[in-house]
Amino acid sequence: MNLTKRQEAELVTAIQGRGEVPLKFAYLGEGAGNWDKISGQREEGGGINSAEGKLLEKRIDDFISTLSSEKGVNIIDIGCGNGYPVFPILKKLLDNNIKFKYVPLDISQEMLDLAIKNVADEFPETESEGLQIDFELGQFSDITYDLKKDGSVNLMLFLGSTLGNHSDLNRVLSNFRDSMSSKDYMIVGVELTNLVKVQNITSHYEGEVVEDFVFNTLNYIGVPKESRDMEITWNNADNQVEIRAVLKEDVSIKIADESFALFKGEKILLSRSKKFSESVVAQVLSDVGFRTELLTTNEERGYLLTMVQPTRYSI
Ligand SMILES: C[S@@+](CC[C@H](N)C(=O)[O-])C[C@H]1O[C@@H](n2cnc3c(N)ncnc32)[C@H](O)[C@@H]1O
Repeated sequence: MNLTKRQEAELVTAIQGRGEVPLKFAYLGEGAGNWDKISGQREEGGGINSAEGKLLEKRIDDFISTLSSEKGVNIIDIGCGNGYPVFPILKKLLDNNIKFKYVPLDISQEMLDLAIKNVADEFPETESEGLQIDFELGQFSDITYDLKKDGSVNLMLFLGSTLGNHSDLNRVLSNFRDSMSSKDYMIVGVELTNLVKVQNITSHYEGEVVEDFVFNTLNYIGVPKESRDMEITWNNADNQVEIRAVLKEDVSIKIADESFALFKGEKILLSRSKKFSESVVAQVLSDVGFRTELLTTNEERGYLLTMVQPTRYSI
């Protein structure tokens, strides 16, 4: 893992200011491989990725039919992970002879490389262009605008319930909205909650694979494995699973020029994974200024996919 100066500053500020290590750093460097393992488990174990994939396959015709795509579609895979979740869409575009370009967008160069490789292995003719961007930092309309210069349309994808990992949903969604024209679409996939099943939800986060993943950043800044435990809790007020490091002893930290200590008993938030209800998803998207074109859930009501477009206000 290698952090830029800006990322180091953000990390120090987040730890000292709110006792949190932003999860996004866990995907950098070797973290991409750790995420790939979790993603595989979520697929095999019937988790988020498999629920999402099945729903996407079932409703793919509806999603694709709304695109006016004579000049092709740019598939902007926001927070691409290993790229597998977009396969049903790429396959459908190929089957329907719709020209497309795969544009993964991620904070992690290693995730981008993996997604581009996986897409190239499965769909060898695909043209890809990776964008290394931290989407929390602002809108990226310069890039989305350039992509459409040849008359193509943009379809943004925000899959894998990534929306649930962010403390400030409005900020993230506003950045996406401000990177879209009123002709572009975005498909968002989120895990829904069933409060009766909360116990099952937290147990999905147990185990070494998740531990290796969420502790990546703390390892990087020199908190050894022996000095901490992992705590997984359900936060009822915010409807989210939270993973924390609990320190078993005092630890000295050095990030860039900054040295400070973390003390025995201190807890550091490493990950949040918010679960939604249908009405909350619809409300959050509408508050940010999106209109809903399509909204669908699987039969178990455990997963939701929605296709939205920025609302164009008339003046
Ligand atoms: C939960 S994973 C989901 C991956 C994939 N979409 C899936 O469904 O399996 C989140 C992805 O978003 C990326 N990511 C997280 N925060 C980000 C940020 N602020 N800017 C850009 N990418 C980010 C991570 O590197 C990772 O690839």
